[in-house]
Amino acid sequence: MINEILPAAVAAAECFGDAPEAALYPEERAALGETGEARRREFTTVRHCARRALGGLGLPPAPLLPGVRGAPRWPDGVVGSMTHCAGYRAAAVAHGSGMRTLGIDAEPHEPLMEGLLDYIGLPEERARLAGLARQYPDVHWDRLLFCAKEAIYKAWFPVTQRWLGFDGAQVSLLPDGTFHARILVAHPPEQPAAPGAFEGRWLARNGLLLACVAEPQHV
Ligand SMILES: CC(C)(COP(=O)(O)OP(=O)(O)OC[C@H]1O[C@@H](n2cnc3c(N)ncnc32)[C@H](O)[C@@H]1OP(=O)(O)O)[C@@H](O)C(=O)NCCC(=O)NCCS
Repeated sequence: MINEILPAAVAAAECFGDAPEAALYPEERAALGETGEARRREFTTVRHCARRALGGLGLPPAPLLPGVRGAPRWPDGVVGSMTHCAGYRAAAVAHGSGMRTLGIDAEPHEPLMEGLLDYIGLPEERARLAGLARQYPDVHWDRLLFCAKEAIYKAWFPVTQRWLGFDGAQVSLLPDGTFHARILVAHPPEQPAAPGAFEGRWLARNGLLLACVAEPQHV
């Protein structure tokens, strides 16, 4: 399903549940530490997906350890992103030679918790969402905005190593399954080429919302 919204240069794998054959490398087990069963399962299955996705690029399986602020450490020359939510896990990877960064996110297709939209949505975004909700009531646009913003952060962070708050990007969701995002924070002086915008795609199906952003390398 996620392949439908990813560029052709991206290899992805997904699971609608947990894979009994999924296993962790010892160093991944150590990085995970003592945790609950739900967290162990999502961490393990999403890495199983990630290794399948790496295989899609012709690369061998490898340990995938959490790095700075939880961003996954991919093998050299690879960019990628992982997501998990109830009933779904997915990973997407690409060769860094062609893709600068990518981010994916999955959410249950349900309304956001009461009050959360005021926290994650800018006034312009909230106004636009109200119009979309009137025209296309089958989509939970508030949850989709959240999903798109999480995907943006997952693409932003590995490039900049910087936090980006929910007010750090203005997202325009379009009913055709695309979205545009404008980064609102000033570029750090040492990173003049930090992304200034992202183009994304989204999908609502099978009780899930999926969003992805991918920025090709500029030649
Ligand atoms: C990090 C964050 C985006 C994760 O999203 P989530 O919906 O809670 O969880 P998901 O299951 O979709 O994704 C979790 C995976 O994201 C990846 N991830 C975590 N931190 C990351 C980071 N800093 N950069 C990139 N990827 C990251 C990891 O692979 C993680 O899975 P793992 O711990 O099993 O390896 C979220 O918790 C967060 O901190 N959001 C606030 C920042 C934000 O979204 N800003 C909006 C900017 S417009």
